[in-house]
This record gives sequence, structure tokens and C-alpha cells, in this order.
Amino acid sequence: MYLTKDEERIYDGEYGWAKQVSIRILVKLGDLYGADRLIPIESAHISGVAYRTIGDASIEFLKELANSNAKAAVRATTNPSSIDTMNQLFSCLPRNVIEKQREIINLYETMGIEITLTCTPYYIRRPAFGSHLSWAESSAVIYANSLLNAWTNREGGPSALASALVGKTPNYGLHKPENRRASVLVKVEAPLKSEADYGVLGMYLGEVLGNRIPVISGLRRRDEMCLKQLGAAMATSGMASMFYLDENYVGERSFEEEISVDDKSLKASYERLSSTIEKPDLVLIGCPHSSPEELKIIARYLEGKRVRDDVKLWVCASKYVRRNADEYVRVIETSGGHVICDTCAVVTWLRELGVETLVSNSAKTVHYAPLLSKVGASLSSLEECVKIACGK
Ligand code: F3S
Repeated sequence: MYLTKDEERIYDGEYGWAKQVSIRILVKLGDLYGADRLIPIESAHISGVAYRTIGDASIEFLKELANSNAKAAVRATTNPSSIDTMNQLFSCLPRNVIEKQREIINLYETMGIEITLTCTPYYIRRPAFGSHLSWAESSAVIYANSLLNAWTNREGGPSALASALVGKTPNYGLHKPENRRASVLVKVEAPLKSEADYGVLGMYLGEVLGNRIPVISGLRRRDEMCLKQLGAAMATSGMASMFYLDENYVGERSFEEEISVDDKSLKASYERLSSTIEKPDLVLIGCPHSSPEELKIIARYLEGKRVRDDVKLWVCASKYVRRNADEYVRVIETSGGHVICDTCAVVTWLRELGVETLVSNSAKTVHYAPLLSKVGASLSSLEECVKIACGK
């Protein structure tokens, strides 16, 4: 891979150990995937923030980086952590895990990385059209590529952090126009009603597509909430990082495969995903983290109602969205729900927080909660979730 004179100096350690180790990670990746050079990025989004998922070994690595004066070279944001430090609900967790989580956050902050703690950084600042990014967090990657026309590969935590410190990423994969062509046409024949249905479609497509890029036709609803659930689910069950809506696709229309999706295929997908739960402990909305518009919709459904005493209602969102949606947050919290920031149901300790069963409108949460927390999970639309929380 070609390196400029300055990049060679970084590679040889003239700018310190942190940058050297970072550029070496990027060059290794680039060599592996046939990149010709490094290209500048507009921003990096870093996963690997939740203590529950990264553990102690990663803290040591972050400490070494921070102690060698590592500083972000471009705007960099962080994915959710394992706790909401501002919410009393989380104070029952052991003190040592709370301290470890704080330590991780402080280390990132020392490196000049923004402590956004959200998987929807695009609600805080939208990447420019056509910009190159280095984002980890699969749901944000597919959203950026498909709905914002920003260009990013699906990075892991270490490569996104390395890119943040160097300000560049290797030029391969979805950074190249020829790799952004669709190869499969998906015709959706099933009538999808809610955003939860879009999540089921996403789970199905993720499995059958692998990492191929589809053009999707036949979607009746194209609102952001539905498309966000579709993308997050596609990236959960497969390696999808991008999709096109039929009307937005301007590339060549010679597809290697056409797939029709009917009700029957989605029914099977839904049944594999969801177990029936009559009385969940937790109703979870906001995976990926909610937009202001979603908070508005939830507040509208909750207006004048009360969350049952035996159920928790969590609505996850970034601090930024929470701050800017004051009136909706008030309605949600007055009715007994909690607007949770900085974390989510997948990366926190659900069982320790008293959750054994949950219902969510997110196929991603319903997929991961049983696997990672041994919690029973079922899928329902947002509207239905609110009804369940309030006892219909
Ligand atoms: Fe975000 Fe957690 Fe879902 S990181 S996409 S809310 S699993």
C-alpha cells in the first residue's frame, strides 16, 4: 500500500507510539483487503465502549494509548456504554463495574474523543453527502451508506479508533464506487405495516444476502423509523452494510439474482426471532437509539396513560436527542417511563437490573437479548409496545 512521506514517518514512530500502532493497524487492514492508499475521513465512530462487552484487557490497551498522548485527528464519537450514569436505575449495579465504565469513558475523553455514547451519531451531526467515514456499529454503518450517502466500511472498534487517531482509513470496500453497485433485486410482496415488520424483513434479508448489496422494491412505508429498523436488522443477521431503495438506484440494473419476499418467508423469520411473552418485565424502545421524531410518537401514544407498576418502560436515546426533545421526555417520564441515555438493553446487565423478559419493537434487541443476557424477548410494533407497557 502506498504511503505518503508523512504517513511513513508516522509508521516509523516519529509521531509517537499511539499513532504508530494506529497506522500499523490500518496498513495491515489495507494490505489484507487490497487497498491502494489511505484516504482522509470526515469522522470516526468508535464501538468498544461498553465495559460489559470489552472487558479489562481493552482497558489496559486504552490506558497505554492515552498515556502516550494519543489524540483524535478528526471528529470522533462513541457508541453506548454499559450504564446511564444519570439514572438511578443503574445505581444498583456493583460499584466496581460502574467505576470501570467511568474509567473507559475518561480514557476516550483524554484522547479528545466526544463522549456521545450513542449508536445514532447522525442525529447529533449528519455526515456530509459523499464523505468518507470510519464507523464501527453496524446499524450506523448501514444507515450512513444507505440513507445519508456517506461512505464507510463496517469497522471494528480497534480500526475505527486507529482511524480516529490517524484521521484516515484504507481505501477499499465501500470507499470505492465500483463496490457500491447493487447485485440483487429484492421484490417485497409481503404487506409490511409497522417498523417491527421492517425489522423482520431485515433479519430475513441479512440471512439470505450475506454482504451483497440489494435494491429493494415494493416497500410501502419509507419513513425513517422503518428504514432504520430494516437496516439495523439486516446488519444483525448478516454482514450487510448497504441497501438501496428502488427509486434511488441509478446504477446498472443487471442483477445476479432476484429475490421475492412473501408473507410466508417473513412469518418463518418472525417465529424464529420471537418467543411469546405475556407479561414482560421490560418494554424496550430505542434500538437503535431514538430520534426526536420517535420520542414525539411515543409521547403521543403515552399521553394521558400510565405505565403499569409491574413493567419498566425504557426509551433509549442519546443525551443530545433527550435535551432537544424536552416536552416529549416530560410526557414519557410523567407517565412512568424512563428515557435512558448512554446505554442500551444489549450492552448493559439486564438480569442484574431485574429483567428476565422483554418486549421491543427492535428486531436487533430481540435477537441479541436472549443470546447475551439469557432474557426472553419478543417483537411488537412501537404502538403495541406502548399498549403492553400501559396494560392495553
Ligand atoms: Fe444501538 Fe444498542 Fe441497538 S448499540 S443499535 S441500541 S443494540
